[in-house]
Amino acid sequence: MNAVDIDLPQLHQADLQDQRVLCRVDFNVPLIGREVADDSRIRAALPTISTILEQHPRALVLLSHLGRPKGKRSEDLSLAPIAPLLSKWINQEVHFSEDCIGTEVEQAIDQSPHGSVWLLENTRFHEGETQNDAPFAAQLARLGDVFVNDAFGTCHRAHASNVGLSNLLPAYVGQLVTKEVFYLSSALRHPQRPYLAILGGAKISDKITILERLLDRADRVLIGGGMANTFLAAQGQDLGDSLVEPAAFPLARKLLAQAAGRMWLPLDATIAPPDGITADIQHVSVAEPLPAGWRIMDIGPATVQRFTAELEGAQTIIWNGPLGVTENPQFAIGSYALAQAIAAQTSKGATTIIGGGDSAATIQAAGYAEQVSHLSTGGGASLALLAGEALPALSALTKEVTPS
Ligand code: 3PG
Repeated sequence: MNAVDIDLPQLHQADLQDQRVLCRVDFNVPLIGREVADDSRIRAALPTISTILEQHPRALVLLSHLGRPKGKRSEDLSLAPIAPLLSKWINQEVHFSEDCIGTEVEQAIDQSPHGSVWLLENTRFHEGETQNDAPFAAQLARLGDVFVNDAFGTCHRAHASNVGLSNLLPAYVGQLVTKEVFYLSSALRHPQRPYLAILGGAKISDKITILERLLDRADRVLIGGGMANTFLAAQGQDLGDSLVEPAAFPLARKLLAQAAGRMWLPLDATIAPPDGITADIQHVSVAEPLPAGWRIMDIGPATVQRFTAELEGAQTIIWNGPLGVTENPQFAIGSYALAQAIAAQTSKGATTIIGGGDSAATIQAAGYAEQVSHLSTGGGASLALLAGEALPALSALTKEVTPS
């Protein structure tokens, strides 16, 4: 079953009045010490939280993971710092519980005033979470009458707090998940044309299915990042010490043949010397052999010009994966220029979709995050959806409920 073919039970179909609503959100946010460094995922959950609260539930109980604590408590990965932050956003007290299961939290929720909002401690402090353990899911289910899944970022996981709960309670999908599924699958099925895809990232092998799918559907696919090196090297170009995947050469040649001229590779590159001294970086044509030991770090200015010119007039643009080693701002210039061009197209009415954690971080760093049609909150989940895979947490929402 394809992810987009699922008819998901929508939040507006649920009667939540006087119910204990258990809602899975993805508050897996970056922390610096006890401070939330980027609250995008918290803000992304606000529409669903408000919609639930407008229906006057008995209580709203929020569940999330944070990091990968592997079944053990870890104070560094506590969700406690998020409760006061969320409280400011929703203008209401958010109670915090130091465990997500047990009689103590059950009673505390039952005794709290009607309409209380609760945030429970990291579900991954229990190993039953990632194992989708039935008894653990049953303990979570005791805290709610209805389940809402709005954690798009974990929809590619089959865990107790998404798949497990969907099997035990009447389950609905939240507004963030609905929006993500719309943009990352439905909108791309019947795109306005010209439809352009920009694909970057390190390896072809990580994104074969996405690449094949985009080649089938998009009018043109622009390639950058480490994956462009493999395509260039597969055509016989000498790229010095650049990252390439020789094992993927046959696949690269096959994809180039399938693309029949619709796949555009970089014309030039920004390269760094063997000693990594970035003061010495140069822009060179990829048609010439790279000096020994030098490495490609970003697309070059001629490529930026060609790619941005191609974006003008596009009606649908999808971007997944940075075009250079963007951790270093000197090698983020190509990606930032593309981000600016995508924002410009959005203002002219194009549908622009940014999928994948690294490209989302890049467009945020470039300052254009608010100027695209959709910036996905999902990393692995957005890649899976773009590749057309069924997401277990969405499939589970359509299953029969087995009351515990
Ligand atoms: C993410 O950050 O992509 C999601 O929160 C999922 O996290 P995970 O990869 O640890 O399951």
